[in-house]
Amino acid sequence: MLPRHIAIIMDGNGRWATQRFMPRIAGHKAGVDSVRKIVKACVEKKIEVLTLWAFGNENWKRPQQEVSFLMNLMTSMMENEIKKIHEENIQLHIIGDRSRLDKNLQQKIAQAEQLTANNSGLKLIIAFSYSGYWDITEAMRKIAVEIQENRITPTDISPELIQQKLALANFPDPDLFIRSSGEQRLSNFLLWNLAYTELYFTNVFWPDFDVAELEKALLFFASRERRFGATSEQLQAGQYA
Ligand code: IPE
Ligand code: IPE
Ligand code: MG
Repeated sequence: MLPRHIAIIMDGNGRWATQRFMPRIAGHKAGVDSVRKIVKACVEKKIEVLTLWAFGNENWKRPQQEVSFLMNLMTSMMENEIKKIHEENIQLHIIGDRSRLDKNLQQKIAQAEQLTANNSGLKLIIAFSYSGYWDITEAMRKIAVEIQENRITPTDISPELIQQKLALANFPDPDLFIRSSGEQRLSNFLLWNLAYTELYFTNVFWPDFDVAELEKALLFFASRERRFGATSEQLQAGQYA
């Protein structure tokens, strides 16, 4: 079985570059090629949703030069890749704290989303200036406002309601999570939505992550039995199909 939704922490760009005696930004540049390859492969495989984490809220603390480079890279993606994304019938979404981005990038993101809004192919979500804490905090704020305005009461708060206020409200939760570069942690990525996701880690640095690596992750996923708390016997009896 293929996952409906794949979420990836694209990690290891810096180390990939350092190993080659190149500046870290060369790794980020090389990482864009991997993004293109993996997006194309997901389109071909008819994956429904692909979420890529490109910049975390904690990454704002990196050297200013590196942050600027990543901001410019995102801006140029929104300007120069969007045509191709649109041609491939991809629906683009950006999740994260936009208020921290400069006005030009905010505008480019809004335009890119608008252009591709009616496309019916792969839903490509780029998490940018995103963190799980930020996402859950925003959800809590929205719920608090609804209570304050007497639209709901505290008893209405449920896992489903919280889910509806998160950045991935309109998408199924990720089925398969992939992190490259050997780190085995979530680093404040999608904290709520990864509750039942199958986790796959590979030592390969993101610029070396290619379609063959994706295939390995898909094979891993296909071999998992997802029980969601039930027993294997119950699943086999079709009780939770
Ligand atoms: C991931 O690669 C890309 C971003 C966080 C923007 P890193 O830049 O974290 O690369 P390493 O982990 O230092 O090798
Ligand atoms: C997380 O990676 C963010 C992205 C890959 C975009 P980091 O490389 O910054 O995470 P830590 O700090 O090593 O956990
Ligand atoms: Mg890293």
